[in-house]
Amino acid sequence: MTDLLLLPGDGIGPEVTAQARRVAEAVAPDLSIAEALFGGCSFDVYGTPLTDETLAAAKAARAVLMGAVGGPQWAGAPRDRRPEAGLLNLRAGMEVYANLRPALCFPALADASSLKRHLVEGLDFMIVRELTGGIYFGTPRFIEELPGGGKRAVDTQVYTTAEIERVARVAFQLARGRRNLVHSAEKSNVMDSGLLWRQVVTDLHAREFPDVRLEHILADNAAMQIVRDPRQFDVLVTDNLFGDILSDAAAQLTGSLGMLPSAALGDPGRPGLYEPIHGSAPDIAGQGLANPLASILSLEMAFRWSLGRPEAADRILAAVVRALDGGARTRDLGGSLTTVQMGDAVLAAL
Ligand code: IPM
Ligand code: MG
Repeated sequence: MTDLLLLPGDGIGPEVTAQARRVAEAVAPDLSIAEALFGGCSFDVYGTPLTDETLAAAKAARAVLMGAVGGPQWAGAPRDRRPEAGLLNLRAGMEVYANLRPALCFPALADASSLKRHLVEGLDFMIVRELTGGIYFGTPRFIEELPGGGKRAVDTQVYTTAEIERVARVAFQLARGRRNLVHSAEKSNVMDSGLLWRQVVTDLHAREFPDVRLEHILADNAAMQIVRDPRQFDVLVTDNLFGDILSDAAAQLTGSLGMLPSAALGDPGRPGLYEPIHGSAPDIAGQGLANPLASILSLEMAFRWSLGRPEAADRILAAVVRALDGGARTRDLGGSLTTVQMGDAVLAAL
């Protein structure tokens, strides 16, 4: 049985994932690791970004570490076979409905943030983004021709009680192990799905988590608060689309997109999907310039949340902090280390 399935993917994905693999082999030599094609590179070989075999392998592994998918060379691929479609199918197929996206500002990087140091120093909050529902998956969705000319496009935002409840439960449970505060963001002032979201979160809170502090916040206000005073947040739970947007905003606070990992989790015992938040960065792919820390930190989350090895996770996190404190910087952090040299720095710190 595979413990860890690597899906390095496209662009800088293979370069950064290779460094995470070195770290995994160093902290857990007994781990069984496999690799498969996924994304544009899979489309080129098999005509689809996600083959049935790869999805089956992902569901059978204990954790999946993805690099990145997509790039300009696949812009013309049929929409349902674009690398991004493969990613959505992987998330849906693995049923990883809760996407944990930490916004963590490493002390050594506080000056790299676009906000002032005093606003981001010590920043540590977690966005819990619903990942397998909402407008990303809702039907109907289509573009149609209108008789009088022009077109009409439809996407559908849809949520059920069960979908909202299970992701909110993850957020409340997480908060209990942190600062015990959950913000739930929606647009209940204009959207029915937002209204249901607020009701379901309120009910679940009263029923199962009365000990956790709950604040409802409108998603637009959440965006503003994230750039005004981000340290007020502990856990922020929201839907798929708002979570996509708010997590990019939160990522920028931390100094570099190249630093941020994520975990997508399903029901307990099911494999998690781990991926850096950064994309495939085609502009720097293949040049050894990419920062591998987001991938290495995604591996850290995999050890913690899926592989049941928190001590290995602690070691990885400490090594990353140590490498940064020691001045290790790739270009995105204002330094000149290559991808491999940053991997070396983390391994040395281990
Ligand atoms: C993300 C990305 C994806 C998303 C894209 C690549 C489909 O932006 O993981 O945040 O929108 O979910
Ligand atoms: Mg995104």
